[in-house]
Amino acid sequence: MIFVPIRISTLKSEVPFVFDLYLKMKDKYVLYIKRGDDIRTVRLSKLKENKVRQMFIPEEQELEYQNYLDQSLTEAAHNVMMSSEEKAHAANGYSTQAADEIQQDPGSKKSYVKAEKAAKGIVEILTNNNDVLKTIFKNNLPDGQEGNSELMIKHSVNVATLAVKFGEISKFKKSVLENFGMAGLFHDVGLTRLGIKAVELMFKPYENFGPDDWAIYKAHPREATSILQDKEYVSKEVLDLIKQHEEKKSGDGFPEKITKLSIEQQSFNLCCHYSRQVVCLKITPAEVLKNLMLNDIGNYELKTLNLFKEMLQKEGLF
Ligand SMILES: [Fe+2]
Repeated sequence: MIFVPIRISTLKSEVPFVFDLYLKMKDKYVLYIKRGDDIRTVRLSKLKENKVRQMFIPEEQELEYQNYLDQSLTEAAHNVMMSSEEKAHAANGYSTQAADEIQQDPGSKKSYVKAEKAAKGIVEILTNNNDVLKTIFKNNLPDGQEGNSELMIKHSVNVATLAVKFGEISKFKKSVLENFGMAGLFHDVGLTRLGIKAVELMFKPYENFGPDDWAIYKAHPREATSILQDKEYVSKEVLDLIKQHEEKKSGDGFPEKITKLSIEQQSFNLCCHYSRQVVCLKITPAEVLKNLMLNDIGNYELKTLNLFKEMLQKEGLF
């Protein structure tokens, strides 16, 4: 039997599963929950406490799992009785699974379609609810147990959700928010594609970069673009957001040192910059904000910086 990994964060307790769920123990797949049974809340919490991130389903049940995921996201988007915490759980689980699949296979239509669904779901959930962003962002802060590729996934989900909320507060169109969600999940995939050394640079402050580090790091927006640019299902707007996510209004960004950046692009780039500092470099939000106001005045519009600060305060992120 062939097994495919799924994220434990996508599972709901006390709801019968429409697929068989397996645990991997020393190269063996052990049936953990049978189709039709559910998982008790306590048992699910125990798995999470033990830092189990992945479980497995038989490959032939992938469609059932996808339908289960889609239903969970749709319910979270439209059920007004559901708590903010449950909504955050559904949005985070779906986005994390999408970011994971992007990391494994960034150019596939399957990954792109999943990211599209995730983006539409997080827009619905975040724009209609308070407290959801805070729960997702805190859930994706480093816990000291995860490796770099897991942190890259957390960073992607945080950029996607942060940018959607910032887009809403900035009064951007819904289609822009959906593009932010998509681009957030994809934007740093070029680093993963460039290899372990490139990914390690996400966790190293720029002050410590040598010339070789910069050469590798500066290649990552183009690497991501090259994977996606010839695909007929990829939108130009999403591609541009990814391509320009390291550019700065001052011209100090890369790879093209573009100085004419739209407010939407600047807002997205600010979310990428902020999440890298907090999630990957583990700098406190207060310190990042202080540095933004001291060092980045020329890199982003002042009103964008002020609005961003306002959002972090209002959403309880620092
Ligand atoms: Fe980046």
